[in-house]
Amino acid sequence: MPPSTTPEKAADPGLPQATFRFRCIGCATVTGSAAQDFRCSQCGNLLEITDSSWNSRNPAALKSLWRERRTLNAALDLSGVWRFRELLPAPQSEEQVITLREGNTPLYELPQSSRATGVTRLFAKHQGMNPTGSFKDAGMTVAATFARQAGYSWVACASTGNTSASMAAYAARGGMRSLVLVPEGKISWSKLSQSLDYGALTCQLRTDFDGCLRLLQELVKRAPVYQLNSINPFRLEGQKTLAFELLEQLDWDPPDHIIVPGGNLGNSSAIGKALLEMRDLGLIARLPKLSIIQAEGANALVRTLREAAGKHLVSVLAETRASAIRIGNPASWEKAVKVLQATEGACEQVGELEIAQAKAEIGAEGIGCEPASAVTLAGLKKLLQQGFVEPDETVVLVLTGSLLKDPDFTMEFHRGDLFKNTAVEAESARLNPLRHPPVVLNATLEAVLKTLEQAEKSDRTRSNI
Ligand code: F0G
Repeated sequence: MPPSTTPEKAADPGLPQATFRFRCIGCATVTGSAAQDFRCSQCGNLLEITDSSWNSRNPAALKSLWRERRTLNAALDLSGVWRFRELLPAPQSEEQVITLREGNTPLYELPQSSRATGVTRLFAKHQGMNPTGSFKDAGMTVAATFARQAGYSWVACASTGNTSASMAAYAARGGMRSLVLVPEGKISWSKLSQSLDYGALTCQLRTDFDGCLRLLQELVKRAPVYQLNSINPFRLEGQKTLAFELLEQLDWDPPDHIIVPGGNLGNSSAIGKALLEMRDLGLIARLPKLSIIQAEGANALVRTLREAAGKHLVSVLAETRASAIRIGNPASWEKAVKVLQATEGACEQVGELEIAQAKAEIGAEGIGCEPASAVTLAGLKKLLQQGFVEPDETVVLVLTGSLLKDPDFTMEFHRGDLFKNTAVEAESARLNPLRHPPVVLNATLEAVLKTLEQAEKSDRTRSNI
């Protein structure tokens, strides 16, 4: 029987029965439990979560149930993740759920970028508006819940900064300890400081992200810690809700394109999984194309597709100022390849100048984002040039992290230092009109008035160009 749509019934926050299973993405073996590395015991490939009950739901009833929950105040209904619990793995009880009221993120129009690119229906789904400032929270509420339910007192992750901030917060809320492995000197202070405040045991390892992740795989075999990287399929289940919520915000009329940044490739895999599940269930009538954008200096998936036709991973030694996606050996590359094929999306790369420009342009819209998120706008410009995206199509950029996540990048950009002593230093001068460096003045009225006058004059000159 489909769920009732009356408010009284929707107020019932009961969880569905736990009927989910683990399925290998390689050999399709289905099992009831997963080992600590979340890999198939038969072929070693990654596991995903599947649940036969998902396909038996009534799509119209689900839509109205989810909408009604937005007016309710029960903890599970206030979460923009658990509001969609009919299509998530179910914990044993509501009390198990660790939530910070994640999700419920805004879908913004981007009028200036829309004018500049010619794409009239251009939106940003801003996952940086989550409790710890990134999309990771949507996955973490689910994975941390299952970690505690399984009886773990320690959770652990390797991270470029956002996963660790999110994990530390959810562990703290759930009364668990957390162990963070981050590459020393290669993540932003802002992210690192979050995990300190949330009480994590934070280890800065003298390696890169890929080295941290490798070490974590060894560690979970030796110590009773539960890994919360996106290899953990519960993370991806929570991250699916980004797509459910997006479609709800678009009144279930699918956009033509969704564009996401690609790092370890968990998020693109999660969004793709959600799109396919929504299509199979009849929540949407057609699939958006899901495209993945990487930084040129961390372009493992781009190379995997171009040089190996998606058959095996081409790893790279990653280098980019978009430190969140400085990843050379992405764990979920096979899931991402499948999603690109299923949705007929594109995979592109963008340079450091293009990233900095796009980030400043998103900032100028009054919303801002961190550098890794800005690859989406830079990627859109490339996909338009290639004719893959048409200006009359509807495009959604997924902004994955808040502007406040990487203040060093922003300050260096506006001060004009970001590209000093790099190969693109001379070329970076073309971004000068986007810079707004702080002005240091004597504390006098005259000094401020004069500066204001000069700013008005240069605004007029610019608008006459
Ligand atoms: N954008 C931001 C802001 C990120 O923090 C990440 C990944 C990505 C995009 C890429 O997402 O890995 O799912 O393809 N950050 C991870 C971390 C690796 O440790 O915080 P992905």
